[in-house]
Amino acid sequence: MQSLYVTVVAIVLWLVLCAVTWRIHRSRQSVEVKLNATVLIAYGSQTGNAQTIAKNCAQALHLPEKCVIALNNLTFEHLQQVEKALFVVSTYGDGEAPDNASLFIKHMQDKCLPYAKQKVRSLEQYALEHLEYSIIALGDSSYPDFCAFGFELNQVVAKTGAQLLGGVITVDNYEPHTTQLADITPT
Ligand SMILES: Cc1cc2nc3c(=O)[nH]c(=O)nc-3n(C[C@H](O)[C@H](O)[C@H](O)COP(=O)(O)O)c2cc1C
Repeated sequence: MQSLYVTVVAIVLWLVLCAVTWRIHRSRQSVEVKLNATVLIAYGSQTGNAQTIAKNCAQALHLPEKCVIALNNLTFEHLQQVEKALFVVSTYGDGEAPDNASLFIKHMQDKCLPYAKQKVRSLEQYALEHLEYSIIALGDSSYPDFCAFGFELNQVVAKTGAQLLGGVITVDNYEPHTTQLADITPT
């Protein structure tokens, strides 16, 4: 009886593990886009604010919808294709990435490994030196780690040799109807 119980528990655990692995695999699959564009906008957004800003920016720049990508679907190869990237990201949890952006930093770090192993250059430095980027970081200054994910993202992207235009632009407590441009502060 006890061995049956152990077997059932093992099967359930195995199924849970398979489901988690499958979910991670699915969310990591890149949107198979050949961008054919020089600009892309990537967002990380838990409740939609950053995503809305990303879409509005795309509209203002007359970019097609396919140029607006969730960070979990953005790959290093996408960034190699474009000249400019705008990241619009919020921070969640205790200074963490939103769910649809939580895999990107690991992805970029994995891309560093071959370069680090070859000891050509430390990390993948200068691999994206053609790229210029901006970051709009949404957060709430009542949290101790204000806009932490935006700043973390900047550190990782900067390691590739890409150039940050201006500073990380922080937006405190974004509210769609009341936030003014003046509330958006480069740091
Ligand atoms: C549960 C929760 C945790 C949050 N954690 C942080 C945080 O650690 N740092 C921060 O600056 N903002 C934090 N925020 C604020 C959000 O980043 C902010 O509300 C943002 O506008 C949400 O944008 P989004 O809808 O694109 O996710 C948090 C908000 C919630 C609801």
